[in-house]
Amino acid sequence: MPERTISTMFDEDHERLDALFKSFQTLKRTDFPKAKSAFLEFKAGLQRHVVWEEDILFPLWERKSGMTGGGPTIVMRSEHREIGDRLESLSRKIQAQNLETEREEEFLLDLLDRHNMSEEEVLYPEMDHIISPEEREAAFRAMEKIA
Ligand SMILES: [Fe+2]
Ligand SMILES: [Fe+2]
Repeated sequence: MPERTISTMFDEDHERLDALFKSFQTLKRTDFPKAKSAFLEFKAGLQRHVVWEEDILFPLWERKSGMTGGGPTIVMRSEHREIGDRLESLSRKIQAQNLETEREEEFLLDLLDRHNMSEEEVLYPEMDHIISPEEREAAFRAMEKIA
């Protein structure tokens, strides 16, 4: 089995979340309850993903790289805030059973795609480069404790 790295773990979680969001979009006009449950799973999963990054992964990387006062994680954190805002406006419409959510979906996906791409292409590989396997495994164990 190939080694579990930060890239493989987090890229996979991005993919899993993308698939849940796709299910929501595909099902929303044919099976709303199913679509809604896919959305709720997506929302909870995305929120957990952000906590994994902000509370465990980013602080570890900031410590190792010495980039605490600036640098890419500051940008990522501020994008998380914007993603969270867009997630909430979409969520409010879905809770109100309002299906006219194309604009909100587009806003969220557009930002999320760009954000995930910079993590996958730059940040995660950087992290795998400077974080030791032992530190990485400790981070994964800490992640498992976050529900
Ligand atoms: Fe992120
Ligand atoms: Fe991410």
